[in-house]
Amino acid sequence: MKKLYVGTNTKMYKTPSAAVEHVLKLRELTRDIAQQLELFVIPSYTSIAPCVQAVGEDILIGAQNMGWEDEGQYTGEISAPMLEEVGARLVMIGHSERRHVLHETDEEEQKKIACAARHDFKILLCVGETAQQKSYEISRETLAQQLKIGLHGLDAEIALHRLWIAYEPVWAIGVNGVPADEHYASEMHRHIKAVLEELYGDQGREIPVLYGGSVNNENAVKLIAQPYIDGLFIGRSAWSAENFNQIIREILPVFRSRDLAEK
Ligand code: PGA
Repeated sequence: MKKLYVGTNTKMYKTPSAAVEHVLKLRELTRDIAQQLELFVIPSYTSIAPCVQAVGEDILIGAQNMGWEDEGQYTGEISAPMLEEVGARLVMIGHSERRHVLHETDEEEQKKIACAARHDFKILLCVGETAQQKSYEISRETLAQQLKIGLHGLDAEIALHRLWIAYEPVWAIGVNGVPADEHYASEMHRHIKAVLEELYGDQGREIPVLYGGSVNNENAVKLIAQPYIDGLFIGRSAWSAENFNQIIREILPVFRSRDLAEK
């Protein structure tokens, strides 16, 4: 049975105690469907250790970023061994706010991915075009570039077992974001899967590709009903455990019937 990928990035919100309350409640609310989900939460660095202590392996806890060296003179950075020791098992690389607010480049994302690959992390690479790139009709080229540079040199074995992609169009993210139309999102997912096939062969298509960017109670079902969308990566609408649980319960049956139909 295929698992539904659902997760949230809490950005620079929630103190450690609030983050712990969130994951504890989420675990309790989703306990009966946990086997059907690949459920993950990506809190701030300071919340990782307390969240892991609170829920153990029940919810995958990830980091929002990571330095590309194991140690060194990089004041303010957090390294892979530091994250490993506190129990993070997933690391997100290249979130749009890191790329566009903090000016990270594809080359930097590539170094971080190579570092995450040397350690045992699952890797969530975020890609997405800006509104301007979309208006120039270079969305596909932009996505291909982010994937090909970011994943450059990544071993197929690791990619096929530990890599996830989040497609998050920059214009769809956050308070000013406009959610992508589900058909457009599905088309971009199809394109991402084609690039992954080019990089890793037929099996590259199995790498999970999640949609993110203003996912909410209104559009979640429409998005998950589309082919090529393997899960949802949710910000604001998932920061209340109750609402996150409600979205998961609405999309799960749709995902299940799609999975059956595709078999
Ligand atoms: P949003 O955030 O759902 O609040 O738009 C998505 C994200 O930044 O990952």
